[in-house]
Amino acid sequence: MPGTGIVIVGAQWGDEGKGKVVDLLAENADAVVRFQGGNNAGHTIVRDGEEFKFHLIPSGILYPDKLCMIGNGVVLDPRILLGEIDGLKRRGIDVGNLRISANAHLIMPYHVLLDTAGEVKLGKLSIGTTRRGIGPCYADKALRLGIRVQDLLDEKILRKKIMAALEPKQQALRELSVQRRKLRKEAGEGSREGADQSVAEAPDPRLDLHAMTEEFAAYGHRLEPHIADTAKLCWEELDAGRRVLFEGAQATLLDLDHGTYPFVTSSNPIAGAATVGAGVGPGDIGEVWGVAKAYATRVGAGPFPTELSDATGRHMLERGHEYGTTTGRERRCGWMDLVALRYAVRLNGMTALTITKLDVLSGLDPLRVAVRYRSREGAVFDEFPYHQSILHSAEPEYEDLPGFDADLGACRSEDDLPAEARAYLERIAEFAGVPIRLAGVGPGRDEVVWIGGNPGVL
Ligand code: IMP
Repeated sequence: MPGTGIVIVGAQWGDEGKGKVVDLLAENADAVVRFQGGNNAGHTIVRDGEEFKFHLIPSGILYPDKLCMIGNGVVLDPRILLGEIDGLKRRGIDVGNLRISANAHLIMPYHVLLDTAGEVKLGKLSIGTTRRGIGPCYADKALRLGIRVQDLLDEKILRKKIMAALEPKQQALRELSVQRRKLRKEAGEGSREGADQSVAEAPDPRLDLHAMTEEFAAYGHRLEPHIADTAKLCWEELDAGRRVLFEGAQATLLDLDHGTYPFVTSSNPIAGAATVGAGVGPGDIGEVWGVAKAYATRVGAGPFPTELSDATGRHMLERGHEYGTTTGRERRCGWMDLVALRYAVRLNGMTALTITKLDVLSGLDPLRVAVRYRSREGAVFDEFPYHQSILHSAEPEYEDLPGFDADLGACRSEDDLPAEARAYLERIAEFAGVPIRLAGVGPGRDEVVWIGGNPGVL
């Protein structure tokens, strides 16, 4: 019997609107758990005209009766989490059902500093990270120098662990700062040299062991009622036949192993990672829902074969309000890339697709979808190429489909959609090899069209 777990993953480069899909599916679920990433994510949910933005807390928190978990695979900045908890409380939302894995790793102040310093050092080659400390935190986890949520509960252990982790960071940050000064000097920015030097040589107050230990121990006191063995809580739900949603952050093409490395995040946002990041088995997963926009967007650097820098791209940016929830950055926009989408479908073992923001395409004609790539040398790629250099220079080959002008905002069933919009969805499903179950036609929770009807059971 298939498990009762449903994983929801991003099928493109993130910001596909996973939060809204999780919010909808959560209605018929018993628990929601995040399994990777950190506050690099940003989910916006519009509920009764009120907007909620989450970076860490699973979107299911708006349901008072659902267990909401932050799994062991997440990297957690306690300051951000407490800010979100306080914000929700102020708006009268009960957070009593929030559980945080004792094994989740903490983003420390030095991770944030290192993330920024690393990006500055890379200069033109920078990844365009969210600078939230994600990469350095996962690096410490792999180095076994990480600080975990459970460490917050014992000040002595906390101090020892911070001390061990801090020393190499101080050295690395000092070296990075010296390199920066050198570069500035070479670039002729001598006037800033003096001030810069004194900053580099003074101990950074943000890296003081005692202050950091005290600050984090205080966070521990506040978070203690929420700290739990979340893997066990997931088993209890699943073993009782209850429905658990595994909420992915970021997306397939940002996956550390399978995405457009090195322009990726430092975790695995694909469905398989839900097992590791939440502590369940592959057999616990019954369904994998992928979420893709009706077009494509990307923030940060890295290859994006269907990117548009013309009026059509501008249309998508403006009509789709394509500005990052976390960093406010303008997103790069382009046509739907079916080669990449089919890759994501297979990689995640998707059982269903959700296509969001279909309404944004209204007014564009024709609608183009990439169906293969051509390399600079003329080689044809029907599949997503594994080689980075090919992807960087790949030119998409498009299939054109008729566009539509109608405003889709009021559509609530397949029959309400213009024939061209239906044909567009059908072509995507056919090419990707997976059924589309849901299409988004506006930002609101009810602005959706269930394809084949609302399954209710999900
Ligand atoms: P990091 O996750 O902050 O290390 O950033 C690595 C890459 O992932 C950058 O290109 C970011 O723009 C991208 N990224 C991280 N989180 C998100 C997200 O939630 N949506 C879209 N892109 C993201």
